[in-house]
Amino acid sequence: MQTGYLNGEYAPLNEMNIPVLDRGVLFADAVYEVVPVFEGRLIALADHHARLMRTAGALKMPPEHLPDLRDWSEIMHRLADGNPGCGGIYYQHSRGVEPARALRPASDDLTPTRLGFALASLPPSGGVRARLIEDQRWGRCDLKTTGLIGNLLGLLAADGEEVVLQRDGWVTESSTSNVFVVLDGAVHTPKADQRILHGITRALAIQVGACSGWPVTERDISVDELGRADEIWLTSSLRAISAVTHLDGTPVGDGAEGALCRRAREDLLRRYRTDSQA
Ligand SMILES: Cc1ncc(COP(=O)(O)O)c(C=O)c1O
Repeated sequence: MQTGYLNGEYAPLNEMNIPVLDRGVLFADAVYEVVPVFEGRLIALADHHARLMRTAGALKMPPEHLPDLRDWSEIMHRLADGNPGCGGIYYQHSRGVEPARALRPASDDLTPTRLGFALASLPPSGGVRARLIEDQRWGRCDLKTTGLIGNLLGLLAADGEEVVLQRDGWVTESSTSNVFVVLDGAVHTPKADQRILHGITRALAIQVGACSGWPVTERDISVDELGRADEIWLTSSLRAISAVTHLDGTPVGDGAEGALCRRAREDLLRRYRTDSQA
């Protein structure tokens, strides 16, 4: 059994329990992060910590209860080192445990539940099939909270395939990834507003693309353009970059991973090898 983390202790994951009146259990009143582990190293740890803090701040969680970067780094490294071969580390921080169930927090001084564990790496893929699904999520998709029912609805509608979500005719993202499209040789991705999670992999890909000869434009992308794309990519901490080879059963480009996707992944992984944030 793998080693997990709960409120300062490390122990086998299946021996850990959390209280029923934890607000994370009752209301998904909890923030989380997934940090990729690539070739044994945590990637972009400081960026993930900054996003954790931003989401917690938007939820008005007391900052003194949140781990600073040094403490967080220690937890994340210990979990990565204790789980060799893993693909990422999951960390979750709830607002805390209540004396009784009530939506309004009982006080600013609840004891948070802090937990972490390792995630398996995704098997390498030459590409995935996806369906275009209506985005039924809420108005603050930029906040990385554990309330993911809208994301799950998308996946359940996709019958085992990945999804590309659209809202009012505009591409937003995928249920667990950001979306990039290649149109006439140029790479585009939806703007980082409240309709999407501001993916760390997305931001790294944009940085890497700017230095590597495939600059990315951040702009609204219509469903119409998606249908004409030469390539569609998904980016996330666990998958890095993968190609969507078929959308709603129709081949994207020639129905295989595109050349630009392959190059983007190689460039991104090269960047991972030199990452110095951990
Ligand atoms: C909805 C959604 N979009 C995008 C992403 C990708 O974010 P990141 O690259 O930070 O993993 C995720 C990752 O979990 C996600 O859940």
